[in-house]
Amino acid sequence: MTHTILVTGGTGTLGKRVVPLLRAAGHRVRVLSRHQRGADYVTGDLVAGEGIQAAVAGVEIVVHLAGGPKGDDVAARNLVRAAAGAGSVRHLVYISVVGADRVPLGWFRTALAAERAVTGSGLPYTLLRAAQFHEIVFGMLEKMAKLPVIPNPGGLRLQPVDSRDVAARLAELALGAPAGRVPDLTGPAVYKMDELIRGYLETQGKRRPLLPIRIPGKAGRAYRAGENLALEGTDVGERTWENFLADKDSVATR
Ligand SMILES: NC(=O)c1ccc[n+]([C@@H]2O[C@H](COP(=O)([O-])OP(=O)(O)OC[C@H]3O[C@@H](n4cnc5c(N)ncnc54)[C@H](OP(=O)(O)O)[C@@H]3O)[C@@H](O)[C@H]2O)c1
Repeated sequence: MTHTILVTGGTGTLGKRVVPLLRAAGHRVRVLSRHQRGADYVTGDLVAGEGIQAAVAGVEIVVHLAGGPKGDDVAARNLVRAAAGAGSVRHLVYISVVGADRVPLGWFRTALAAERAVTGSGLPYTLLRAAQFHEIVFGMLEKMAKLPVIPNPGGLRLQPVDSRDVAARLAELALGAPAGRVPDLTGPAVYKMDELIRGYLETQGKRRPLLPIRIPGKAGRAYRAGENLALEGTDVGERTWENFLADKDSVATR
């Protein structure tokens, strides 16, 4: 059966990988973007509350992957209100972040508020929390490596996951029955920050000294306690950080 699916964030790192999977499965996919992009796209802004009703009209499945530095809670509330009002939506899928309820930092708190908009929407939903994508970690290290000395936050660990693995899981979830909150999806290994930095420097042919730093306050304590990690009962992606670094295509398309 062919479904009409709206993907918000369908132009982003994750969304660009999800959209072709849904299309390949034979579904009609509409992508919401803030910019005019042509057929198969609708123009709208979830934070400003523009173009959302038109985007959800006649849609059965909404895959909400849009995100930005600010306002993801507002965006989710606006989208959910429109989706519930559309009358056609029977499945709402949302991607959140591992540790949304445990790390006391703005981005995590906003993700938690967005989750609450979804879970309280009255719409059948599926909620997947994922760890940091390889692309994000790579981009962060790229910025840090512009400095002559790279800060190395002691006790910070990450378990980065490949956005292709997250995309495959999301496409499967979107096309299945609404499942509520599903097990978190992480990468196959936990890395200390200096391991990630050294792997990056080596593959980029760079050398930099590392400067040990301590993340202050509550956020630092949460990170050192591993509150941003999911160590038990999770789904685990296939591709490792090393696979990502070795695969020039994945780095080039990040
Ligand atoms: N990156 C990670 O490590 C990670 C980890 C776990 C969860 N997540 C979540 O996964 C989602 C996707 O992440 P990503 O890395 O793929 O993001 P991304 O590459 O930064 O892309 C952001 C997407 O959101 C859209 N967008 C941003 N603000 C919007 C607005 N006001 N209205 C409508 N669309 C808007 C953008 O579309 P246009 O520019 O075309 O408008 C773009 O497609 C986010 O919700 C993020 O919180 C990310």
